[in-house]
Amino acid sequence: MAELRLQGGSTVTAPQEIAKLLAPLGVQLRYWPLPDGPRSTELRAAKTLSANEQDELLGLVDHRFRSLQDEFGYEARDLIVLHEDIPNLAAALAKFADIHYHEDDEVRYVLDGTGYFGFVTATGDQMLLKVSAGDYINVPARTEHWFVMRDAPRIKAVRYFIDKEGWVPVYTNTAVALA
Ligand SMILES: [Fe+2]
Repeated sequence: MAELRLQGGSTVTAPQEIAKLLAPLGVQLRYWPLPDGPRSTELRAAKTLSANEQDELLGLVDHRFRSLQDEFGYEARDLIVLHEDIPNLAAALAKFADIHYHEDDEVRYVLDGTGYFGFVTATGDQMLLKVSAGDYINVPARTEHWFVMRDAPRIKAVRYFIDKEGWVPVYTNTAVALA
């Protein structure tokens, strides 16, 4: 379940409170229960997945994609699988650790692991949202944010796209104040 750390040190864990703090940014956070069953557990727990296994795992949650397609016109989805033994992982992650925005929404459904999304509020304060398995997040286009991983750099997440071309970082040169 998600947790939101505020600049100043306090941490918010109540889902309704987190939603209220994220609402002015347009960020949506939902908890989508993970698929049941031993195969789902096995695929989610594996460090690496073959292309076939990635397709299999995507298939287990594709009812979510179909809903997003019908409701909002999403056109594509893929699965990212990050772990500590990926060559150049640090360099790949560094691209998203600086504050940026995208021209498309950044939409993720976390199936395993943990990551941290940072946000800049209208007053300039920053917040750091911890997301883990079961969390679905939509960071709207043009919302300043960043993404980092911590001690155990493992995550599996479905990425949903309206326009894959729109999903490149545009850096804003705002400095990250929350680590
Ligand atoms: Fe991003």
